[in-house]
Amino acid sequence: MPKINENYLNLKESYLFSEIAHRVDEYKKNNPDKDVIRLGIGDVTLPLSKACVDALHDAADQMGKAETFKGYGPEKGYEFLRKAISDYYKRNKVDVDPDEIFISDGAKSDTGNITDMFGSGNVVVVPDPVYPVYVDSNIMCGRELTYIDANAGNDFLPMPDKNMQADVIYICSPNNPTGAVYNHAQLKEWVDYAIANQAVILFDSAYEAFISDPSLPRSIFAIEGAKKCAIEFCSLSKTAGFTGTRCGYTVVPKDLVFISSTGKELSINSMWNRRQSTKFNGTSYIVQYAAAQVFTEEGERQCQENIRYYRENAKIIADTLKKKGIRFFGGVNSPYIWFECPNNMDSWEMFDYLLNNIQVVGTPGAGFGKNGQNYFRLTSFGSKENTIEAMKRFEKLF
Ligand code: MLT
Repeated sequence: MPKINENYLNLKESYLFSEIAHRVDEYKKNNPDKDVIRLGIGDVTLPLSKACVDALHDAADQMGKAETFKGYGPEKGYEFLRKAISDYYKRNKVDVDPDEIFISDGAKSDTGNITDMFGSGNVVVVPDPVYPVYVDSNIMCGRELTYIDANAGNDFLPMPDKNMQADVIYICSPNNPTGAVYNHAQLKEWVDYAIANQAVILFDSAYEAFISDPSLPRSIFAIEGAKKCAIEFCSLSKTAGFTGTRCGYTVVPKDLVFISSTGKELSINSMWNRRQSTKFNGTSYIVQYAAAQVFTEEGERQCQENIRYYRENAKIIADTLKKKGIRFFGGVNSPYIWFECPNNMDSWEMFDYLLNNIQVVGTPGAGFGKNGQNYFRLTSFGSKENTIEAMKRFEKLF
């Protein structure tokens, strides 16, 4: 009989968004005539931009002709896409070499898979509340986590404490779920801490395209020294509506080098390359070809148009909460709005209350950690009509 990875026994029974989908399906089965509005999982509603769709067609045609057909692609992803991403960083005044970029099928996979790079016995630090993938993927390989509190007291932006011990640190900014965004000085403090303590920062910037304040950093590599201590995960899911198409990228700097127990220099870039070439055969050519369009001038303009649409939704939600005197975080520079549950409700009570009374689905804060117990997350990724309707219903309820 095989010995099973019993670390799985330490996970919650189901993944947060599967649990929510299950509860909503159950509700819909029992109330087939009700019009349910989903502002729960951060899944986009606008279709892919024209630039991307045209490229998908073009790439499909290329695959149908012997002269342009592509089989297995290069292990890091196609050069044309890595170069386009490197140029995008450059336009944002950040220097990232195409060789430091690895194309993937999304930030969720890579933030989970990166755990392969780290041995046992590390102190892994995550904020609470936190995107559950960071926690679950560490639990799956038997690691314990150390939580640092993110709460209203620190504007949901925890800072390093000099006495804190950490080897691996997860940071997500703009944050999922709270919508909070670190400024330059705050990220500098984290980078300085990581360098001083020889820790690595796993920086999830999946929502960077939602930053509209030019003073806020969109990449950890905008911070001096970060290339010595950080890995960055990016995604086209929210930037370009690729939640179903799947494409992301991870930046592993060449300067990121740690010393093995025998004194050998270990390049994380080389190790990640070794890992990916063994366990991953790349994102499809068709998708990478379309993804490259996201970084052209016209492609970027079309993506920003969609992001503007979601920003307006965020404003509709934020305005409603303001009107009702409900305290919230995020909603600006972020697609998520994180609000305090009114009337002392806890977050799952709030979930049921909204679903049963106004058929609006959100995400209970408790699903992201204990500090989310009394908070609730709404996303701006719905359609404008649904967002307006959901807020009309919300306004009547409170
Ligand atoms: C979320 O709603 O938190 C995200 O959409 C989940 C994800 O990106 O995997």
